[in-house]
Amino acid sequence: MAGKLRLEGKVAVITGGASGIGEATARLFAAHGAAVVIADIQDSLGCSVAASISPPGRCTFVRCDVRDELQIAAAVDHAVKTHGRLDVMFSNAGIVGSVAGFLDLDMANLDAVLAVNVRGTAAAIKHAGRAMAATGTPGSIICTASVAALQAGFAPAAYTAAKHAIVGLVKSAAKELGKNGVRVNCVSPYGVATPLACEGMRLPPEKVEELSCACSSLKGPVLKAEDVAAAALFLASGESAFVSGHNLVVDGAVTMVNGTAARIIEELATRHV
Ligand SMILES: NC(=O)c1ccc[n+]([C@@H]2O[C@H](COP(=O)([O-])OP(=O)(O)OC[C@H]3O[C@@H](n4cnc5c(N)ncnc54)[C@H](O)[C@@H]3O)[C@@H](O)[C@H]2O)c1
Repeated sequence: MAGKLRLEGKVAVITGGASGIGEATARLFAAHGAAVVIADIQDSLGCSVAASISPPGRCTFVRCDVRDELQIAAAVDHAVKTHGRLDVMFSNAGIVGSVAGFLDLDMANLDAVLAVNVRGTAAAIKHAGRAMAATGTPGSIICTASVAALQAGFAPAAYTAAKHAIVGLVKSAAKELGKNGVRVNCVSPYGVATPLACEGMRLPPEKVEELSCACSSLKGPVLKAEDVAAAALFLASGESAFVSGHNLVVDGAVTMVNGTAARIIEELATRHV
């Protein structure tokens, strides 16, 4: 890779790193010199992604179900024991859950969505924050929220609530962990054609991308997992040294626009031309 390595000598744990945004981030962090630990429940995929990242040993896999706090603590412990420190936690594992409407809300599904997205994020911040404090590391914790953390209509209620909660966790943690020099931020992607989005929408990747582009204010680029990874790299690196408590929205201005109002006003305007 040409140019400066932005994470040279750093150690990162990435939950949900076996696929999609987490996988793209594992590849990018490793390419920028970080030792990466992928923490995921997809054993064989996680192992093969880790093995495909060079040089050998730069990226390793640990099985970690983020619903279980002890497994998150163990993944952090593994990173510290293997590499001596933890600089970056990318708490990114997530699920969408059922797409049923609010009036058919299944409480077990709500619990399941909150367990992965909210409990998992809280435990990741807690254990990464402890490890960073114990070694005096001014680390960076990044959590994956979503455009669903800003507006309704992108995803089911349980997921929308969970992603709003992640922003709350990030703000609280930024306040508390700041005294140790630890920064806590989140990234909020718009639609990326990953397995999560394709399964959630029950559409193939090309249709997810088509829909994502059709609704986007920004025309031209197609949002890819690598674009979200680039935002995570900025938050992980020293380039964001004074950025904490921030929600970095990667959405081509989708959440800046009220689509319904804009469409009606555009239609009215064309009638008067
Ligand atoms: N794809 C999108 O359009 C989009 C948009 C906004 C936010 N997000 C968020 O991005 C994050 C990554 O999702 P993605 O789109 O890359 O999907 P993905 O399905 O490709 O990756 C999600 C990963 O999380 C892992 N995971 C799920 N449950 C887990 C658990 N209990 N413990 C550990 N790992 C677990 C999966 O095994 C998978 O590897 C999620 O938090 C998601 O909510 C995605």
